[in-house]
Amino acid sequence: MEDKVQALSRKARQEIGEARTLEEVRALEVRLLGKKGEVTGLLKGLGSLPKEERPAAGALVNRLKEEVRDLLEKRREEIKARQKEASLQVPPPDPTEPGRRPDAGRLHPITLVQEELEDVFAGMGFMVLDGPDVELDYYNFEALNIPKDHPARDAHDTFWIEEGLLLRTHTSPVQIRAMERFPLPIRAIVPGRCFRHEVVDASHEHTFYQMEGLVVDRGISVAHLIHTMKTCLRAILERDVEIRLRPGYFPFVEPGFELDVNCPFCGGSGRKGDAGCPVCKASGWIELLPCGMVHPNVLRAGGVDPEEYTGFAFGMGLQRLVMVRYGIQDIRLFMGGDLRFLEQF
Ligand code: PHE
Repeated sequence: MEDKVQALSRKARQEIGEARTLEEVRALEVRLLGKKGEVTGLLKGLGSLPKEERPAAGALVNRLKEEVRDLLEKRREEIKARQKEASLQVPPPDPTEPGRRPDAGRLHPITLVQEELEDVFAGMGFMVLDGPDVELDYYNFEALNIPKDHPARDAHDTFWIEEGLLLRTHTSPVQIRAMERFPLPIRAIVPGRCFRHEVVDASHEHTFYQMEGLVVDRGISVAHLIHTMKTCLRAILERDVEIRLRPGYFPFVEPGFELDVNCPFCGGSGRKGDAGCPVCKASGWIELLPCGMVHPNVLRAGGVDPEEYTGFAFGMGLQRLVMVRYGIQDIRLFMGGDLRFLEQF
């Protein structure tokens, strides 16, 4: 009996070691430990032994049975581990696969409109100027005919940095800087960021974009202002616009105006179906930008003689213009960084 057990043990060890798949292990298990299996056969054969040999032989066969069971289990674990490792392995790169196109960024709608405007104004002989975001009180207020303690300062909700230094509340300070720096006549636009200490809501942001315009020459009148504004608005709104001027107050222009365009949503009728147009509140007009003739004090601050020269200026809110052009209702979308919004332009 001992020989048989040893022979079977050797054979089982070898065969189990050679099993390559879980199915092969399972087949061996049946062949060795199954009802008609070889180990089971040895157990059955115990009955034919002399009585006194049975306990020792029984113990031997049982140990073999245990050994075989352990071997099978160990082999299973090995095979599973190997399969897992193989599944984790990255397949080699396939050089014939088409490439993945990286997501390209795109221009922000404000930048798009700003660049279009720059083209339109460049076509009319305007320079495109820049100015500092951190500005002196002198340029932001003082030289623009807004002395200390003037109530117009309150409307600007200024972010002060330190005494005399602030984040510019509009692009108008570059009017002065332009007159200081360039010879006359001047035709300039100034696109740029402005800052106001405002509570953010659907139509107010603390950071916003303006485009200042300045023309100074002999004999400049409101007619030049109207023509220039019509030309640029036609180009940017891509339609034939009607405009109107209403009086408006800004210390650095005289006279000052609010410029309105006819509402693009109702065509200026003020009606939408049976109801009033919700966008222009049934007026047919949308308030677009302030403008006016440059105040003599401002010309003087820029070193220009108001007896000889006149000029006009305007301050376009770029966000507002983009909203009118694309029908955008909420100003917060511009700075929100939401790709679903930005990808539409
Ligand atoms: N700077 C003014 C503002 O931001 C706008 C403006 C510019 C008005 C030029 C008139 C002329 O409020």
